[in-house]
Amino acid sequence: MASSNSRVINGKTPRMIIAGNWKMNGLKSDLAQAKSLVRYLSRSHRSASASSAEVVICPPATLISALSEVFAGSVAKTGGQDCHPKESGAHTGDISAEMIKNAGGRYVIVGHSERRSDHAESDKLVRAKAEAGHRAGLVSIICLGESLKDRKQGKTLSVIGRQLKKSLPAMATAKNTILAYEPIWAIGTGLTPTLKEIEQAHNHLRRGLLRILGPDGAKLRILYGGSVKPDNAAEILAIHNVNGALVGGASMKATDFSKIIDAVG
Ligand code: PGA
Repeated sequence: MASSNSRVINGKTPRMIIAGNWKMNGLKSDLAQAKSLVRYLSRSHRSASASSAEVVICPPATLISALSEVFAGSVAKTGGQDCHPKESGAHTGDISAEMIKNAGGRYVIVGHSERRSDHAESDKLVRAKAEAGHRAGLVSIICLGESLKDRKQGKTLSVIGRQLKKSLPAMATAKNTILAYEPIWAIGTGLTPTLKEIEQAHNHLRRGLLRILGPDGAKLRILYGGSVKPDNAAEILAIHNVNGALVGGASMKATDFSKIIDAVG
């Protein structure tokens, strides 16, 4: 269950991160929301060195550049929603991690369940994409999570444990990688697991990270994603081993997203 010292891992407090995923939403006009977010961040005197959260928005690729300009000088950063494993080449319609970096992005989401289902992405491909993010100097945000069927069959922990083992690059560190636990059935539905269920999943992932990475696994941040809203953010962010949130719908509105950032405390 939620505990007040939940953010302390082995005596260290990893900086919380609130990341927004605009998905295939957002036109240039939505940069107004990003501008409001910057105004909010500067009003609340958040500085890069303060204990406040790291703030990231991953817009559609066409907006990474413009959004990076809007965020320049603020603590907010941008990222991509996906990347190809290769640096360049004959891959029509794809975008490389290097291109995201070049557009001003600092992060890249890989293995989101919508990519895994819409584009039949395997754990192996997700790992290659995460490695591409590292090659380009980006922080790779690796998503994983169970389906409703998995949960009903009591397979949640085994499914996410397997995804972790297969999707995590051997060179992953707490600096270049973030995990996002996103139960598929909670994404965009308004449904969330109970606080206890979230804690169980995050503890399971933490144990897996420690097994695979050793001590560095204690510091690698694990975000929760799936229907995070202003009214449930505080209780979710207080859960042991929850080091931030990956936010879809509520990241499109600066007022909602700001409230979620505020919930970090
Ligand atoms: P949601 O999406 O917050 O709209 O549920 C989360 C996500 O897909 O990352």
